[in-house]
Amino acid sequence: MSTLKGRDVLSIADLSTEELREVLDLAAKLKSGEIAPNCRKVLGLLFYKASTRTRVSFTVAMYQLGGQVIDLNPSVTQVGRGEPLADTARVLDRYLDILAVRTFKQEDLETFANYSEIPIINALSDLEHPCQIIADLQTIEETFGTLSGITLTYVGDGNNVANSLLLGGALMGLNVRIACPEGYRPDISIVERAKAIATTTGSEIVITDDPVEAVKGAKAVYTDVWASMGQEDLADARIPIFQPYQVNDELMSHADRDAIILHCLPAHRGEEITDRAIEGKQSRVWDQAENRMHAQKALMVSLLGLL
Ligand code: CP
Ligand code: NVA
Repeated sequence: MSTLKGRDVLSIADLSTEELREVLDLAAKLKSGEIAPNCRKVLGLLFYKASTRTRVSFTVAMYQLGGQVIDLNPSVTQVGRGEPLADTARVLDRYLDILAVRTFKQEDLETFANYSEIPIINALSDLEHPCQIIADLQTIEETFGTLSGITLTYVGDGNNVANSLLLGGALMGLNVRIACPEGYRPDISIVERAKAIATTTGSEIVITDDPVEAVKGAKAVYTDVWASMGQEDLADARIPIFQPYQVNDELMSHADRDAIILHCLPAHRGEEITDRAIEGKQSRVWDQAENRMHAQKALMVSLLGLL
């Protein structure tokens, strides 16, 4: 029986090292076909922001588990007309078995979790993107056969993806380096939490403004957009600030020879990553995107206690 049954995952650090290990092992078994659990559960998707990968991978994962999915897009529910979240949460709790929410404020996820018994999954917030990072860890482990001791360097904006990489990487014993311009560093409370976790797992956390130094010896070089959803107005002004943090041939020449390139997608070619880098031999972005489905299926199997 899963130790995660009934739990919420609002942060990747809501999982312990052992629990994240359980989800990653399950994701590998689901991907290989070694196990194929079946259920008649219903997943709700309440997304306040656009999504291709998360929406489709959750939907396909639940269909493959034998369950159903309901799209609760705010434009077709009373959510978009201002019904209080606490009311919506208590009502959805009576219908659904599990709910994934993509939103802006982390507090909104906490409201859903506080007002419902069913598992609530953070499908991306301004603060974190835990589902993405489970798939990223799966991709790194598939490539190198291990996670512990691997150096992962993230270059770019210290955003939701960087925050969850810090926590998830620390939990699984990766050395996580974040290279970003001053003023764009990850959330300080997240950095401190990652450093505290790292003392228990033996990993090293480094925050720097030097991308070349940060990628030296890195086995995985990761980037994401320079302006996240909700920051569209800031995008043009950020381009010159972030230019030295572009993942390109020159930057990759300083990384480990076997280093892989990761990007959560969608990518802005010519900004945070070049076309050559994303299309080249080192890129694992399509495997990474595929793993969203296996990783989230594993998470749902665990949270629903299907095994
Ligand atoms: N990486 C990711 O979460 O993609 P979507 O925004 O398309 O879901
Ligand atoms: N940091 C990006 C990730 C998109 C998947 C955003 O929040 O828009």
